[in-house]
Amino acid sequence: MIYLDSAATTFQKPPAVEAAMVEALHTMSSPGRGGYPAAAAAADAAFDCRSELAELYGLDSPERVVFTLNATHALNIAVKTLVPPGGRAVISGYEHNAVTRPLSALGADVRIAEAPLFQPEAVSESFAALVDGSVDAVICSHVSNVFGFIQPVEAVAALCRTRGVPLIIDDSQAAGVLPLNLAELGAAFIAMPGHKGLYGPQGTGVLLCGEGITPHTLLEGGTGSLSIQQEMPDFLPDRLEAGTHNMPGIAGLLAGVRYVRRRGLEAVCRRERQLAQMAAEELRALPGVTVYARPDLHAQAGVLSFTAEGREVEALGQALADRGIAVRSGLHCAPLAHRTAGTLDSGTVRLSFSDFNTSEEVSCLVSAVGEILS
Ligand code: ALA
Repeated sequence: MIYLDSAATTFQKPPAVEAAMVEALHTMSSPGRGGYPAAAAAADAAFDCRSELAELYGLDSPERVVFTLNATHALNIAVKTLVPPGGRAVISGYEHNAVTRPLSALGADVRIAEAPLFQPEAVSESFAALVDGSVDAVICSHVSNVFGFIQPVEAVAALCRTRGVPLIIDDSQAAGVLPLNLAELGAAFIAMPGHKGLYGPQGTGVLLCGEGITPHTLLEGGTGSLSIQQEMPDFLPDRLEAGTHNMPGIAGLLAGVRYVRRRGLEAVCRRERQLAQMAAEELRALPGVTVYARPDLHAQAGVLSFTAEGREVEALGQALADRGIAVRSGLHCAPLAHRTAGTLDSGTVRLSFSDFNTSEEVSCLVSAVGEILS
């Protein structure tokens, strides 16, 4: 199989990830639940994973690195902490349903900072026109899961600091690919999955919490701390981590984070962008194909959408699957992004790369698309 769906989940993981997960099954119980070696091994792995992520994102306290089930879980905590029912949020035009559905459930007044694809300055201007003191939270994804558009989160963070509005960053497609520093940004929350560019397994996610925030709990239960008390602890990470931890997942995530830190985010990003650029150039040469990328891949990471005239994107995706090539077609759980980009009616076929893809795989993909269209 040629796997080009890493924006959903990276499929090929560094070998150390599987080894760490198997070792965890044999050596770890639960952190904070005892002083015996298996509990201590679990506590060490959880602490090491928090520490690696804290270093990666510029947090000085690993306790503010919270494990979640996925990015959706992390975003739900962040959104429901900052936006009260009927509250007001300003979001980018490229947000995922993991942001828009919680806001809809809250009955929030949502203002959309719309901007054309690959125009980061227009995103900043759009936020500047909408963010004022009446806004409960600003929410912005770092990289669009559909188009790979790198949004100007640093500029949006500066605006939020000036206007005194808390910021949530959805780092789902950028974690492990583009750097961010929570302390410098002054963000309230950064949410991410463990199973995409951080190369952990499914069932892992992370919420980074800014200073001075007591997040709302979505779950209450045992934490191994303050057990006599019936309210959840007000300190992190315990406040947000009720119940038994996913230790094989956290151990795998630790190995994945160590892989990307050793490899270097810049090297990973360069490789993925090179592959996306090659795919964009070669697909664009096929008759009837529209590729959503600027020629120099300006403001774009290794995620690429395309359509073909007269072809349903689902049929095209299935024809590629039949040839052993995995892509994702349709709306990618992000109808807002498609509406902003003008592709809501058709959807797109999406290619998304990881550090393990090769130029030979891109050539096979392009040949397969050419064959299907001819
Ligand atoms: N949000 C993920 C994707 O874009 C699942 O495929």
